[in-house]
Amino acid sequence: MLYQIRVELCVAMTKKVAIDLGTSNCLVWLEGSGVVLKEPSVVAVSVEDRRILAIGDEAKDMLGKTPEYIEVIKPLQDGVIADYEVTEAMIRYFLRKVMGRAWFFRPDVIVAVPAGVTQVEKRAVVEATVTAGARKAYLIDAPLAAAIGAKIPVAESFANMIVGVGAGATEAVVICLGGVVVYGSKRIGGDTLDNDIENYVRKKHGLIIGQNTAEALKEKIGAAIRLKREKEMEVSGRDSISGLPKTATITSGDIYEAMEESIMMMVSVVRETLAVTGPELVADVADKGLVLTGGGAKLDGLDERLKREIGVVVSVAPESELCVIKGAGVAIENLEVYRRALK
Ligand SMILES: Nc1ncnc2c1ncn2[C@@H]1O[C@H](COP(=O)(O)OP(=O)(O)OP(=O)(O)O)[C@@H](O)[C@H]1O
Ligand SMILES: [Mg+2]
Repeated sequence: MLYQIRVELCVAMTKKVAIDLGTSNCLVWLEGSGVVLKEPSVVAVSVEDRRILAIGDEAKDMLGKTPEYIEVIKPLQDGVIADYEVTEAMIRYFLRKVMGRAWFFRPDVIVAVPAGVTQVEKRAVVEATVTAGARKAYLIDAPLAAAIGAKIPVAESFANMIVGVGAGATEAVVICLGGVVVYGSKRIGGDTLDNDIENYVRKKHGLIIGQNTAEALKEKIGAAIRLKREKEMEVSGRDSISGLPKTATITSGDIYEAMEESIMMMVSVVRETLAVTGPELVADVADKGLVLTGGGAKLDGLDERLKREIGVVVSVAPESELCVIKGAGVAIENLEVYRRALK
């Protein structure tokens, strides 16, 4: 009798949780509450014994500022797991943080992963999630989750194209009848653009800036098209020759030039994916256009640029950086509807 009550209580308390395991950010969605956590996928470890010192926001603040005995790592790189143990610790930390005492009742967890991850990588994510404390772990293709989160009717026989621009990768998919039909991806994303900006500023202005500064330049004055009205931003760093503190004014033209090659690569992901898509599906895409999701979709002018290069209507999903996590939440709440699409 007591056992029966306990079992029922456990089932009643089993929460559903969704995780978007991104290269730059990890988001967590909790049944009944929505998106409850967004923290950088960054972990600080001690160099000597790999002990974890800080995770998330706290660790990101340490980037580029740590003493020799601390290493700040991004366990996910280019959209895949680069450091398995640290990823697991990160999942565990975020899950515990959002669930509080309800942690005792192990949750069912769905994790959104890039559509191109290998079977081995998929198994690694499931294992990491279960080891981190999940009762059951499901996987969903991030682009499919993004489409669901962008409220695109994925089950229809009409094809939709979704282009996700994350920190580590750009993924283009054509979705039809509830599944990913065509998929293309390159490991080029927001992080690549940040690196481009760091290199350009060093070469052109003789100024060494950090990763966070490069990202701020991209978000505040960067654009994927030439702007009619240039923007400017003053940044500080270190002189590349003297090593002393230095300040320079960077323009949106600088950022455009810095990113140009990578932006062209992003465009080519879409072009190459369409090139291998069947004519009927391409006709649907031409008809409806494509939808941009992911944080990188917010880059000024990226929609305009894609429209010019590809020749179809391009729209940016509202709250583009939340599409994957919202869609993963919808999928785990409606497991029966989406079960076929889950891994
Ligand atoms: N306004 C903006 N302009 C340009 N880029 C932006 C803007 N806002 C966010 N980003 C970029 O979006 C990226 C983060 O997007 P997102 O959170 O979708 O990535 P992720 O899920 O962590 O990465 P991935 O899916 O590749 O693993 C970062 O590179 C960030 O710099
Ligand atoms: Mg992502």
